[in-house]
Amino acid sequence: MAHPDAQRPIAVFDSGVGGLTVLHELLVQLPHEDFVYLGDTARFPYGDKSAEDLQRFALQIAERQITAGAKMLVVACNAATSAALPALRALVARAARGVDLVAVVEPESRLAVEASLTGHVGLLATPATVSSGAYANAVARLDSEIELTSVPCPDLAPIIQGGSPFDEALVDAVRSYCDPLRDARVDTVILGCTHYPLIRPILQRTLGRGVRLVFSGDVLAAEVERRLAVHGLLNGGSVEGRYRFECTGDPDAFRALGTRFLQMPLGEVVHVELDAALAASTR
Ligand code: DGL
Repeated sequence: MAHPDAQRPIAVFDSGVGGLTVLHELLVQLPHEDFVYLGDTARFPYGDKSAEDLQRFALQIAERQITAGAKMLVVACNAATSAALPALRALVARAARGVDLVAVVEPESRLAVEASLTGHVGLLATPATVSSGAYANAVARLDSEIELTSVPCPDLAPIIQGGSPFDEALVDAVRSYCDPLRDARVDTVILGCTHYPLIRPILQRTLGRGVRLVFSGDVLAAEVERRLAVHGLLNGGSVEGRYRFECTGDPDAFRALGTRFLQMPLGEVVHVELDAALAASTR
């Protein structure tokens, strides 16, 4: 008989719509699971925030979703993972009701290390993620011979989230961010921000067909499935799972942009006030 906790939803969160690239892989890989996706759009972008702020935001969201009954947290945000993974692990370990945690950075670092034939790997990510050193550490732990060229891209996620991504300004920004990677002759590039798979065609054209682009969605979805199976928490029903959305900013803007990026109907998007929720929970 299925474990009663298997019915609980999986909570996915990101600073905005970028994590929808991860959610899509999860919806395909785990069609019988229920998902709740939270985009912290009021505080977007995360990529220019301090590590302290990012840790606070991530803990606030994680606490909320654990209290709401999530059986697993998927941190679909590289900046949040880079700043807050140890603190998130500690929070999950303290949770009264069992909850697991899967995050980005490590899965796609492993994929890149395995994919690279030349040992020259590139990273495109937000300034917060690059300066945290999370990818440099993960890659070095996996293979100390790999030469990682990291490029902070302050404009990319805001342009993509701005909603009109496919213009010359974006192509110019991509070209300038890719120049150091071409100079370093990388054969594999980690897309270290969940927004970047949304502009994969532009990145692939700029870097060339021979460069392998690696991102977190499919490896992360496989990891989520593996962990649920280990804990006996896979929702094995034959009914299609439900998914719903929460955001801290304007729900109509989230729905309009999210529908374009997920290419699936979003349905209701609920506005949530994180600061108010935290104040209430600590009273
Ligand atoms: N989606 C976030 C990430 O993966 C970045 C976008 C932002 O700056 O908020 O890092």
